[in-house]
Amino acid sequence: MAHKIIKVSAPGKIILSGEHSVVYGQPAILTAINKRLYVEIKKGRGSTKIITDQNPELVHHALFNVIPAKAGIYTNKKMFNNLKITIRSEIPVNRGLGSSAALAVALTGALLRWFNQKWNKKLINQIAFEIEKKQHGNPSGADNTIALHGGTIIFQKGKIKRLKVSHLPQFVFIDSGLASETTREMVKIVNAKIKNQNAKLQFKIQNLINNLGKVTAQCIKTLKEKNSNQLKFLIRENERLLEELGVVGEKAKRIIKEIESLGGAAKICGAGGLKKGSGILLCYHQNPQVLLNFAQKSHLKNYQLKLGAEGLRNEN
Ligand code: MEV
Repeated sequence: MAHKIIKVSAPGKIILSGEHSVVYGQPAILTAINKRLYVEIKKGRGSTKIITDQNPELVHHALFNVIPAKAGIYTNKKMFNNLKITIRSEIPVNRGLGSSAALAVALTGALLRWFNQKWNKKLINQIAFEIEKKQHGNPSGADNTIALHGGTIIFQKGKIKRLKVSHLPQFVFIDSGLASETTREMVKIVNAKIKNQNAKLQFKIQNLINNLGKVTAQCIKTLKEKNSNQLKFLIRENERLLEELGVVGEKAKRIIKEIESLGGAAKICGAGGLKKGSGILLCYHQNPQVLLNFAQKSHLKNYQLKLGAEGLRNEN
C-alpha cells in the first residue's frame, strides 16, 4: 500500500459531424484521438496536493463535489487526505478537442480505482457527464462518452453505436486558432436562438438543426461506403449549416473558403468560436498534400492526429 501508484488516461476527440445539433437530439459521429490526458494518484503527506495543467476550478469541483457525491467515496473529507494527484494533458485546450471531457473521465476513473471501486463504465460516464455540466452548462454527453469508450461512435440521445468502418479517410487538422469563447458560451448562443421569442428565427434554427442531423445521417452512410466525393460535398454542406447557425468566426471562414477554392472541404469540429479562432478544422482533400502545403504557406499549425484511439485506460 505504501508504494501504491495508479495512473489512468483518457483521449481527446474530434466531431466528424453533428456538433451543436447533437445537443438537440440529432446524431453525431465522434472519434477519439491519440492525444490524451493523464491522471496519476499516489500517497502524499498531509492535505492532498493537486498538480494540474487544467482549469483548477473544474478539477476542484470534480474532486470535492461531484465525484464524492455521485460515487459515494471519501464522503468523509479525511479519507481524501494524504494524496498527491497529478494531471497532465497533451490535448490543446479551447480548440474543440474535448480536453474537459477527457479530464472528467480520467479523474473519475482514477479515483474509483484508487478507492478500489468497480470500474463501472456506466457510472463513470454518469459522473463525467455531471462534471461536464459545470463546464458546458447544457452538454449533450457526447464528449464524455467518446472519452470513455474511445474508437469511433455514433452518439444520439445518450445512446451509442460503434461506427463499423475499417479505416477513416485521411483528414488534415488545421488550427484556426484559440476560441475566445468557451464551449459553454457557444452552446448558450445557439440555445438563445432556439428559445428566441421571434418565431421566424426559432423556425430557421430548428430547421438548421434538423438539416445538420440529415447531413450526419448521410455522412454515416458515406463513411461506410467510402465515397470520397460525397464526403467532400457533405463536409461543405455541414460547414455551411454551422456558419448559418452562427458558430464559426471570420478567421475560420476565410481559411475554409481558401481550402474549398483548392478543391477541398473543411469544417469546425467542436463548439466553434466567433471573436477570434474557431478551434481545429477538420479538412479533407483527395490529395492531402495540397492541404499540408496550404497550411505551411499560410503559416497555420496543423496536427497529425490518429483517429479511433482507445478510450479510458489504465496506464499501470
Ligand atoms: C462540443 O465538443 C460539442 C457540442 O455539440 C456541445 C455538446 O455536444 O455538448 C458543441
